[in-house]
Formats: sequence, C-alpha cells, structure tokens
Amino acid sequence: MGYQVFISFKNTENNEFTQDRQVSEELYNYLESRGIKTFYSNVTLLDYGEAQYKEVIDDVLDEVKVMVVVGSKKEYITSKWCKYEWHTYQQNILSNIVEGSIVTYLGDMEISEVPTGLRHYQSFKLNQSSIEVIGEFVVRAVNGKGQFVEGKNSQVQKGIPAKNNLGLVNEFGEKKASYYDSTFSGEYKRLKIQGEAMRPSDMKGVNYVKEQLKDTETVYILDAGCGYGVVGRDRFADFSNKVIIGIDISDAVLEKARELNDDENAHYEKVDLLSSNFDEEIEMIMGKYKIKKFDVVFGAYVLQHIKDPLKALRNLRTCLSEDGYVIFRQSDEGTYIAYGDDGLVRKICERYLNAPGIDDRFIGRKMFHYLEATGYKNIKVFGTFINTSSMGYDDRMALYKMRFSLRTMYYQKELAKNPNNTIVKNDMEWMNSALDKLQEVFGSPSFWFGETMLVSVARKTDIK
Ligand SMILES: C[S@@+](CC[C@H](N)C(=O)[O-])C[C@H]1O[C@@H](n2cnc3c(N)ncnc32)[C@H](O)[C@@H]1O
Repeated sequence: MGYQVFISFKNTENNEFTQDRQVSEELYNYLESRGIKTFYSNVTLLDYGEAQYKEVIDDVLDEVKVMVVVGSKKEYITSKWCKYEWHTYQQNILSNIVEGSIVTYLGDMEISEVPTGLRHYQSFKLNQSSIEVIGEFVVRAVNGKGQFVEGKNSQVQKGIPAKNNLGLVNEFGEKKASYYDSTFSGEYKRLKIQGEAMRPSDMKGVNYVKEQLKDTETVYILDAGCGYGVVGRDRFADFSNKVIIGIDISDAVLEKARELNDDENAHYEKVDLLSSNFDEEIEMIMGKYKIKKFDVVFGAYVLQHIKDPLKALRNLRTCLSEDGYVIFRQSDEGTYIAYGDDGLVRKICERYLNAPGIDDRFIGRKMFHYLEATGYKNIKVFGTFINTSSMGYDDRMALYKMRFSLRTMYYQKELAKNPNNTIVKNDMEWMNSALDKLQEVFGSPSFWFGETMLVSVARKTDIK
C-alpha cells in the first residue's frame, strides 16, 4: 500500500464530526501536498464493517513510519478506534515489527490525563503549534533527516539546521540552553578520562595548526570553555613559546582550574562566550596579559552546551588574529556503532534526546556549516575512529564512563527544579537501569562499540 504516515483521531461524536477530524484533514492535506502518502481513516471505511476496517488498519499499521495521534480531549484519544490504532502501532514498535515513531498533537490536558502509553512521545499542542509546524516535523521524520528518526526524539530534528538556514535558529525557531554542569558530581573525573581518550584525535588538529604557526614567535592561545584547564594545557604543552588564557562561564570550575594550574603562562578568567559585550570583556583580559590578538582559539566539547553556537563563533572571531586558527572538538552520536548490545546503545541515545535541557548530540556534523556561516576559511574536519576491539576491561569501562555515565545529570537537574514531574522521574529510572545494563555489556568481550571523534580546524581569513 505504501503508506508512510497514519493519522489517528476520533471521527464523530453524537453523529457530528469532531474538531479533531477537521484538524486531521488539514494535516492530511498538508502531508499529501508534501508528497507523503498518508492514511487518514475516514468513515467510509467503517461502512464496510468493523472486521474489514480492522483488517485494513492492521495492514497500514504494519508499514507506516510515523503515527500522528490527534486528540483535543482525553475521551477522544481513549475512544475505541483511536485507542486500538495507537495501541496496536505501539505494540508493533515495541515488538520491532515496524521501525516507527508516534507523535501526538493534543489539546490542553494535564499530563496525567494523557494515557501512559502516549506520554513519552514527541508532543505538539493543538493550540500552539500550527499544522505547518507539526506537518514539517512529520515530513522530516518520514524522510529520515536525523539519526534516530524512528525513535521518540525531537532534539535530533530540532538540532539539524533546516535547508538554507545554517542553524541560526532551528526550524521551530527555538534555541535551547543546556543543563550541562561541569561541576556536577564526578564530572571532573569524567572530563579527565575524556581528555585523555580524545588526545590522539585533538592532536590531529593541534599539530596541523602548529605547523601553520611554526614561524610565530609566541603563540597566544584562547581555551574557550576551558573547564578545569587540564585539556587545553596538555594539548599545547610542546608549543615552546605560548600563553594560554582559559575562559569559562563557571566560577567554580575556574577556581579549580586556577588551583590545578601548574603553568605560569596559563591564566583563567571568567567570560561568557555568548556575552553581547564579549569583545570588550575579552579585550580587558587581553590588556591585562598584554595580548594583542590570539593566534589560536581552542574549544573542546563546549559549543554543544551553548544555546547559540553561531554567536559564540562570531564573538570568538573578534579576538582572533587575521591569520589565526580555531580548533573545535565536537561529538556526534550519529557516529556511534555497536554490536552485541541488542540495540541498547541506540535506545539509550534515543531516550536521552528527550531529556530536558539536553545539549546538541549531533553538533559534530554541523561544524563545517557553522564555521562557514560565521566567515571562517580553509575549514578542515579531521576524524579519528576508536573502538573497543583492542581495549582491555578497564579501557572499555573508561569508554563507557566517558560516553554514557553522564546521562542522568539532566534528569536530576530537572527533578531538582520540579520534584513532582513523574515523566522525568520515570525517564530517569529507565535511564538508570539501562545504564547499569550497558555498563555490564561494555564489560563483555563479545560486545563491540566504535565511534568517530571529530575535530574541526579553520582559519579566520583565507591564506593569501
Ligand atoms: C564539557 S565541558 C569541557 C571543558 C573542557 N574544554 C574539557 O574538555 O575538559 C564544557 C565547558 O564549557 C563551559 N561553558 C558552557 N557554556 C559556556 C559559555 N556560554 N561561555 C563560556 N563557557 C561555557 C562549561 O562551564 C564547561 O566548563
């Protein structure tokens, strides 16, 4: 039959068409106009009898990639056919009959009114999101734009820049702030492990830049989002004449960075990369250390935590010398591959994308565009593949810790704000038990995991 989307809704009440039918019809028209074959179950089918209706529905539910549940009222979503449709489809997803996802388009209702089975899916509000917004979301989900499109994530879709819009704002016009906190318990240790593991990958970018700057007498380096400063100092350790200025937004982290600092040519100062007065603030600091311009801006895993990475990139240009370089290490979960985990890695990544205040897990692939859109030139992206095949138990555990252990922070932060949020509570419980299981899996020699680490390098201006 070739259907791609199924719209589930209640058609009539007291022999009158419901408001949901109208909405569903509009969505149907929108999706069809965008070339998406959509099943919009209507009354005609039911005229043939329930058995026949069910047969057709079952066949369609075996093939569609996305189901949209439209429901202005709780009674509508739980009405006989509507419930049959979403419940059957959900069972199909859970038993891997289809690789699909559910999107809800709901009226004003308390979360407790939404049937439990529908609570964890991407949801749009009937009175807040237009047909175009949800329609476009569904189109992108069907077309597989985004790594985990079959799952329940919205962030992948939101995070990927729309066409002709290099991520200045995502297609829903939102910019997200991350709940990431480098002072979170255990984070210093995790960052340290990460810093060590990322060394070979970072050095591809650093060595390339070092070669370009071989005639520069003293290299002035800005470590943007320096955290504890350890990584920045390590990467530039063998630059003979250098000054490193580490900047970060967190006082607590900076305090610790100063405490750990063992290099008289490294200094740590507070600056927000998104500050509207960034140029003035950084100039003050440059004045303090008698720096005219920076030759290198280094940023390790910082842009993904920032609401507006493009603004940060624009800001950073202002203190970079004309022939200076930027080096950014950014992750991309789309590069993760695993076998022997029964899909657990993928499920954890998918579920995590729904965590509140999550950072951009797919920024790695966007860096080329981001740099281009903010005027940088000679952009190069280096990749380093790491995998567990040659790792002993301890290294595999370290890799697990580095890549997965952090994933309850976001739920904990949200719960601290709102302890009664049962959805977040449930998600956190799910994540905790999934992570326990994954840690066990990482310890098993027959499990294999690999990922590509990405480092982007660019010059402020073209090489003349
Ligand atoms: C994942 S940590 C990485 C730290 C360090 N680069 C490393 O590799 O260990 C990200 C750092 O970016 C900092 N950060 C986040 N938003 C920032 C902003 N707007 N301006 C400056 N620093 C920021 C955080 O405080 C945190 O220390």
